[in-house]
Amino acid sequence: NALDKPEHLEILLAEPRGFCAGVDRAIEIVERALQKFGAPIYVRHEIVHNTFVVNDLKAKGAIFIEDLAEVPPGATLVFSAHGVSKAVQAEAQARGFDVFDATCPLVTKVHVEVAKLAKEGYEFIMIGHKGHPEVEGTMGQLERGIHLVEDVEDVASVQPAQTDKLAVVTQTTLSVDDAAEIVAAVRARFPSIREPKQQDICYATQNRQDAVKVMSPQVDLLIVVGSPTSSNSNRLAELARKLGVESYMVDNADEMRPEWLEGKWRVGLTAGASAPEVLVKEVIDRIKALGAVSVRRMDGIEETVKFPLPKGLKL
Ligand code: F3S
Repeated sequence: NALDKPEHLEILLAEPRGFCAGVDRAIEIVERALQKFGAPIYVRHEIVHNTFVVNDLKAKGAIFIEDLAEVPPGATLVFSAHGVSKAVQAEAQARGFDVFDATCPLVTKVHVEVAKLAKEGYEFIMIGHKGHPEVEGTMGQLERGIHLVEDVEDVASVQPAQTDKLAVVTQTTLSVDDAAEIVAAVRARFPSIREPKQQDICYATQNRQDAVKVMSPQVDLLIVVGSPTSSNSNRLAELARKLGVESYMVDNADEMRPEWLEGKWRVGLTAGASAPEVLVKEVIDRIKALGAVSVRRMDGIEETVKFPLPKGLKL
């Protein structure tokens, strides 16, 4: 029985956890650009929301900027996995940068859908977190006609110019359950709204949340390896708390606090889609140093998604 208390503190490792195909590809794009063209390579925004990954690439010669004004003429520029607005794309083109686009193909898919439906006269309700770069990028596919709702309350006040042609899109890294609730509210207010055939929340977000759901009844603490800016990592810790499990996010092993483990018998461990496995290993070592004697891997689905690299990066 999963609820039997082990004799000694145990670690239960979530499956799947950590890097998704979009993050893998984004990091590889920066690394290959560095190898092929040499430092510096400019990257607009953190390539993925992880402190370790960003510092590692900085050490190899990547320069992270938020504003294209900081990029010198003739530079090689990479767009982060979160995607960019049309305005940013146009500015990069106008300034003649050599651009490699590390936007996750699953974000690009949403951009393409928005552009296609907008041509047919659609307006959009976008579900997402204000200020997140993915939301800025997706909303920035259009000059107007895309309205952000962050929660069920926002649905009541959103004001599209017409309701005949309305479609809903979402950020890819939302809480699956919260998004379903918000979509239900949107549907209740705009019954004829068009919904994506397949949800915009990506497979990696869905799978990591599903694993936490399976794991939660079996643990009395869940540690999520992830940086504070990582949307999907935050959702994992939040989900565990909703399910009644104490949960903390750590950016690295040093942030693990001994007192969290007091009186605990089984610690769940997972990692957001942008958190590298090396950090998970360090956290395991740290929990072991604090008293855990065994590590058990949960059964979980195996992910086989892989995205091709953009042209021009063969070594
Ligand atoms: Fe892409 Fe989902 Fe990862 S949108 S970058 S596969 S978290």
